[in-house]
Amino acid sequence: MRLRDKTVLITGGSSGIGLATASLMLREGARVAMTGRDAAKLEEVKKQLPADVLTIAADVTSLTDLQRVHDEVKQVFGGLDVFFANAGVAFVTPLMETSTARYDELMDINVKGVFFSMQTIAPLLREGASVILNTSWLNQVGTPGLSLLSASKAAVRSLAQTWSAELLGRKIRVNAVSPGAIDTFIHSRSGGSADDINAAKQRIAARIPLKHLGEAEDIAQAALFLASDESRYMLGAEIVVDGGFSQL
Ligand SMILES: NC(=O)c1ccc[n+]([C@@H]2O[C@H](COP(=O)([O-])OP(=O)(O)OC[C@H]3O[C@@H](n4cnc5c(N)ncnc54)[C@H](OP(=O)(O)O)[C@@H]3O)[C@@H](O)[C@H]2O)c1
Repeated sequence: MRLRDKTVLITGGSSGIGLATASLMLREGARVAMTGRDAAKLEEVKKQLPADVLTIAADVTSLTDLQRVHDEVKQVFGGLDVFFANAGVAFVTPLMETSTARYDELMDINVKGVFFSMQTIAPLLREGASVILNTSWLNQVGTPGLSLLSASKAAVRSLAQTWSAELLGRKIRVNAVSPGAIDTFIHSRSGGSADDINAAKQRIAARIPLKHLGEAEDIAQAALFLASDESRYMLGAEIVVDGGFSQL
């Protein structure tokens, strides 16, 4: 019960890493609120969780939605001990083929969404709260076609450092978790066939030192550590959980 009676908000809790983290933090005694854009999906996954959660259908690109998240969390929890800014998307954006609309879509969710989620939620954070940002192993390497995804995650990595400095007076710690290739729904969202997606996963797995994709639970465990007081001496840091992909 490493988060006994702690209150937690997770954006993008209806799937993958956010859902696994919600489940783990509930098992560790936390009260959890989570968001996603799809209200029906939130209701569906709620049934799989080991305890009751507060679900709020909200898009991180909408300031109105974010304010509603703030208001509901304030009303039900009063304040927050942990905020996991996890909602994000991933798709390819080749330099010569990417429209401004596609640019805006990715950057609005992955960077602007994180920035304004934090701005809206920050007043709810209690002294000593822990904020976890979800970045990516891509934040420091060059991969053809992934410029915007990589740049968005480098921006998120940077925000953990600046916000830790900015919120030092309130004793709020902001750290990042950096997943490698994790087997979640994110890989299917780009619209390829199931065979294409499986083939792509196998190609990626072959390049990972541990030879398999990670599980959402692997990232949830790192997020739990960053959420708990066990990481109390960490500020502005990044935990890489990628089967050795970016390190070996
Ligand atoms: N899986 C990987 O290999 C990997 C690697 C590195 C980093 N990451 C990062 O990990 C995070 C979670 O990804 P995942 O793999 O768990 O993907 P996922 O299974 O697709 O889950 C993404 C979650 O974010 C929500 N979401 C997406 N856009 C949103 C928006 N505009 N507003 C609110 N919620 C939104 C989704 O719900 P709705 O669709 O219902 O809105 C869903 O709950 C992302 O930030 C991703 O970039 C993943």
